[in-house]
Amino acid sequence: MKKPGLTQKLKLREIELPNRIVLSPMQMYKASQHGQMTDWHLVHYGKYAYAKFGLIFTEVLCVEKRGRSTYSDAGIWNDSHVRQLKKIAAYIRSQGSIPAAQIGHCGPKSSRQRPYDGLQPLKNLQKKEEPGWRIVSCSGIPAAPGYDTPTALSTSGVKSLVKKFGLAAKRCDEAGFDVLDVHAAHGYLIHSFLSPLSNFRNDEYGGNKKNRHKFAIEIALEIRKFWPANKPLFFRLSCIDRFPGGLEIEDTISLSKALKKVGVDLIDCSSGGIKGPNSLFSLAAKEVPKPGFQVGFSEAIKQNANIATMAVGMISEPRHANDIIEQKKADLIALGREALVNPNWPLCAMRDLSEDKNFNDWPPNSGWWLEVRQRMLNSTDPNDWKVGPAAGNTPK
Ligand SMILES: Cc1cc2nc3c(=O)[nH]c(=O)nc-3n(C[C@H](O)[C@H](O)[C@H](O)COP(=O)(O)O)c2cc1C
Repeated sequence: MKKPGLTQKLKLREIELPNRIVLSPMQMYKASQHGQMTDWHLVHYGKYAYAKFGLIFTEVLCVEKRGRSTYSDAGIWNDSHVRQLKKIAAYIRSQGSIPAAQIGHCGPKSSRQRPYDGLQPLKNLQKKEEPGWRIVSCSGIPAAPGYDTPTALSTSGVKSLVKKFGLAAKRCDEAGFDVLDVHAAHGYLIHSFLSPLSNFRNDEYGGNKKNRHKFAIEIALEIRKFWPANKPLFFRLSCIDRFPGGLEIEDTISLSKALKKVGVDLIDCSSGGIKGPNSLFSLAAKEVPKPGFQVGFSEAIKQNANIATMAVGMISEPRHANDIIEQKKADLIALGREALVNPNWPLCAMRDLSEDKNFNDWPPNSGWWLEVRQRMLNSTDPNDWKVGPAAGNTPK
């Protein structure tokens, strides 16, 4: 039987991913007030490495303190962040997965409550223990009604942020990550420059499409000064805004081509986030997001910009994920919430997609036992359950 596409290796630059299954970046809101990860994160990401996710992304690491969405966001704005990240990356690698980091800046969506506390701007709450801070964005307009009003970055402020992305990439390399993803989606800072619905600047970073792309392009160029040439660089884009006058897939195809020219290797295809929450919470058109609802963006970019892509969004069935890869609609499949439901998803998927439905792909310290249990479930003859020297150690 041909090896299913989902379980095949993929080489990007000099980094070889053992399969096409990716843990999507997911903020856990468990970092310290200073943006430090702890051993909680080691265990959290470690369980996905045990389960053989090919590529494991950290949640977004903020390139500056001002760009945190909450007091519990993880950071990469300081050299001191490297130590714990190094431990996490090393553990992921020790299990055969590829460690990856996402970096970003929440821009007009900074300084808020954690989602499950209400997402209110901290400034409105006036709490002594968690005061709000002054937030920045492309233009001085709130991300959506109810959000805090940001200060528009000055031209020199934009240039200094470009440098911070470069330094963040350097720290991610020092920490031992092999893949880097830049968060340029979901109405966060970079997206606020890209979209005509949020960019009202009249300097070199605003106005026409080329100027709106400039911040993202300069970030990629700056990152490539520090991020080694043998390591892949991804960009997460909101492929469409879902509002009239907003970004359409054609805009994202042309941006993807431009990013490819400056050293970006893969587009991580998400959507939404300008003028409100991203597609995790709602679609502006009031449709219900269906499994794989963003796969069409990945396919369009892959075909028209001739760049590798990652599909994400409501993908949970192994066969569906495998079809997306085999039909060449994406090169990688990222799982978010389904990985929270079942951290062992890749192990289950490999078994599900295999012909004989055994546990051969599982680590033997669990797979061996499960195979013995399976023999008991499949046969009432005790001879079939025997283990040990007489029976041979490996379940058949
Ligand atoms: C708890 C949670 C935290 C998230 N944090 C991030 C993040 O840090 N960076 C990012 O780009 N997307 C983030 N996302 C979006 C996911 O990466 C993913 O794109 C989205 O959940 C859709 O995929 P799914 O349907 O498989 O969950 C987050 C999603 C969840 C559920």
